[in-house]
Amino acid sequence: MSHHHARAHQGEFDENAAEQFEWSDAMLLGHGQMDDAHEEFVHVVKALAACDAATALGCLQAVEDHLLAHFGTEREWMERTEYPAMDCHLDEHQKVLDTVQQVNRLAQAGQVGLRDVRRLAAALADWFPKHATYLDSALSAWISKRRHGGAPVILRRALGEGVQQKSTLA
Ligand SMILES: [Fe+2]
Ligand SMILES: [Fe+2]
Repeated sequence: MSHHHARAHQGEFDENAAEQFEWSDAMLLGHGQMDDAHEEFVHVVKALAACDAATALGCLQAVEDHLLAHFGTEREWMERTEYPAMDCHLDEHQKVLDTVQQVNRLAQAGQVGLRDVRRLAAALADWFPKHATYLDSALSAWISKRRHGGAPVILRRALGEGVQQKSTLA
């Protein structure tokens, strides 16, 4: 854990994180809609990492649109269930959204290159597993407890049956 904290404080990330970033059932948290949003996150970030000069702007916009919906929905769940650790979770969302919106604006103005766009994809791929493991899983467990009085039951698909969805962003 101290490893993660040290890196977070230095603002560093694994520059190659997007290359091994794949959706898998190991990432399921047991909340169907949240899991669907997380699978979509992986797809839009992978598409961003693989973008070229012709697709970069569309891929950036797709990431921004996705995050607005994904983070907005999680906020609604937190408000509706009076989630106690809301501020910390929303702060993290806001920082990520600010970064994506800033890069998107600069890209639209022709002020960032493909290298910066791909660095953003790597930063997002590096950030997400920690966020999901520490913050989203706690939210999923909280919602499930409020609903059913217990921890979520996670039904994993058989390995190999995973979704092989092709990107349609280009
Ligand atoms: Fe999430
Ligand atoms: Fe979240």
